[in-house]
Amino acid sequence: MKQYTLAKTAGFCFGVNRAVDLVYDLIAKQKKAATLGPIIHNPQMVEELSKKGVRIISSPLEAQPDECVVIRSHGVCQSVYDELTAHRITYVDATCPFVAKIHRIVERESKAGAVILIAGDPDHPEVQGIKGHASGPVFVARDAKELKDLSDTLEFSQNTPFVLVAQTTYHTSFWRECLEIARKHYTNVKIFDTICSATSERQSEAARLAAENDLMIVIGGKHSSNTQKLRALCAAYCETVLIETSAEIKDIDFSAYDKIGITAGASTPAHIIKEVLKTMSEILRNEENEDFATLLEQS
Ligand code: F3S
Repeated sequence: MKQYTLAKTAGFCFGVNRAVDLVYDLIAKQKKAATLGPIIHNPQMVEELSKKGVRIISSPLEAQPDECVVIRSHGVCQSVYDELTAHRITYVDATCPFVAKIHRIVERESKAGAVILIAGDPDHPEVQGIKGHASGPVFVARDAKELKDLSDTLEFSQNTPFVLVAQTTYHTSFWRECLEIARKHYTNVKIFDTICSATSERQSEAARLAAENDLMIVIGGKHSSNTQKLRALCAAYCETVLIETSAEIKDIDFSAYDKIGITAGASTPAHIIKEVLKTMSEILRNEENEDFATLLEQS
């Protein structure tokens, strides 16, 4: 009999849930909404919102006069707030409080003269938003090697204060490596561990499940960085498949696996997880159904 385990941390994190709720709140109040970029990295959810009239814009100036702009959980640069205020554009701020905390650290430390170092993906909107809260020098390093290379090229005095923060979804093992480099190569550095615990908990649980199972199914947007990280983590332990919707389940040959773990990225809505479980239950009908009934209740 096959065994299935659904990760307790699968699906929306607190910040994404809050952002999506804020958009639905606007819809419920019959207000027109335009999000600054997709509200989450989940194409199905974005399409659902688009059907409800929610537009995606890339700059506040693209908003129509009757639209309320929504700042998504990733947060934005200070210049975007300035633009919204200067043009008197109505907006709701769905920046995740954990990201907003990094903005405050960067603003404060940068004003006090520190050079800001961000461990993260320079192309990620959250990192671009964090960068945009520094009023002085700011650098992004993807990993410990880049952080080390940066220390060799930067020309600052011995006493220059540095501050190191991390993208909230930064990989915990990369962060440990960055800490070693920061302490060794940046003599005057203050470190703020800004990795969100929702991410590390989801990652640890996914790794634990992957170590205990023969197959891991990761549900989430294929372009979502946190879902990609989950896939990479699980793939180090067992066969791992990343799917966006239940439609992809039929392509998986379950016959070779006895123990199957399931997790989902931070931007995967609960109803998609449920649909995947339902489809699996239909494909694997017979003795597994009892297990699935429990999983469906949990999801
Ligand atoms: Fe916020 Fe953490 Fe989610 S930073 S958006 S609760 S992953």
